[in-house]
Amino acid sequence: MRHIKVNRYENFSQTAAELMMNQVEKKPKSTLGLATGSTPKGMYEELVKHSADLSQAVTFNLDEYVGIASDHPQSYRSFMEENLFQHVRVGQTYIPDGEAADLAAECERYEQLIKKHGGIDMQVLGLGHNGHIGFNEPGTPFSSRTHVVDLAETTRKANARFFNSLEEVPEKAITMGTETIMEAEQIILLVYGEDKQEAVNRLLQGEVDEQFPASILHEHPNVTLLSGGVKVLN
Ligand code: GLP
Repeated sequence: MRHIKVNRYENFSQTAAELMMNQVEKKPKSTLGLATGSTPKGMYEELVKHSADLSQAVTFNLDEYVGIASDHPQSYRSFMEENLFQHVRVGQTYIPDGEAADLAAECERYEQLIKKHGGIDMQVLGLGHNGHIGFNEPGTPFSSRTHVVDLAETTRKANARFFNSLEEVPEKAITMGTETIMEAEQIILLVYGEDKQEAVNRLLQGEVDEQFPASILHEHPNVTLLSGGVKVLN
């Protein structure tokens, strides 16, 4: 795992955006895996600031809530539209459909779509406090593909800040599975802020354990951990 450490959020976001812009420059028809959450917001801002040309790229988001409409202000579709898609030229954009009547079929469709587009070239990930990647919560088998998850209570609480109350936070989501994520050619793991201290240090201890989903990334040949605002062990 390559590790880039920066201090300020601005540098962090610029570095992340550069990694993505380099990828698209090298391969305009890249398939990009995208993440939501507060961490990558600055990266999206930088991409917008630089009028990144993603017009030939195809994007696949990691996850989406189940049970809220795609135009709900807190859906990940709305997040992506507001933070990126409405502001840059971008090719096709895919996000799991959390409103699908048959959720299992939707998960399968998503897997097939990723395959049809030749797999993901560069996957951006955030890190949950409990080590989740996408919405793969602790205990999720490393062999999981895109699936429906029951969100951990800690995750719902962490995300409640975006909703009016904890009750409004969906209880389920669709997420790319750990194995789906591991098939990406390159992975960029974004970790910013003191509240991620414990999680990033646990990751850097190196033990691979299903109780800490991000730990599987140690077995991927091309991962860049970009960390900022945390004191890391090494
Ligand atoms: C959310 C998302 C993840 C994200 C993580 C961290 O629940 N599903 O994809 O990476 O939690 O979010 P944040 O960057 O806001 O800390």
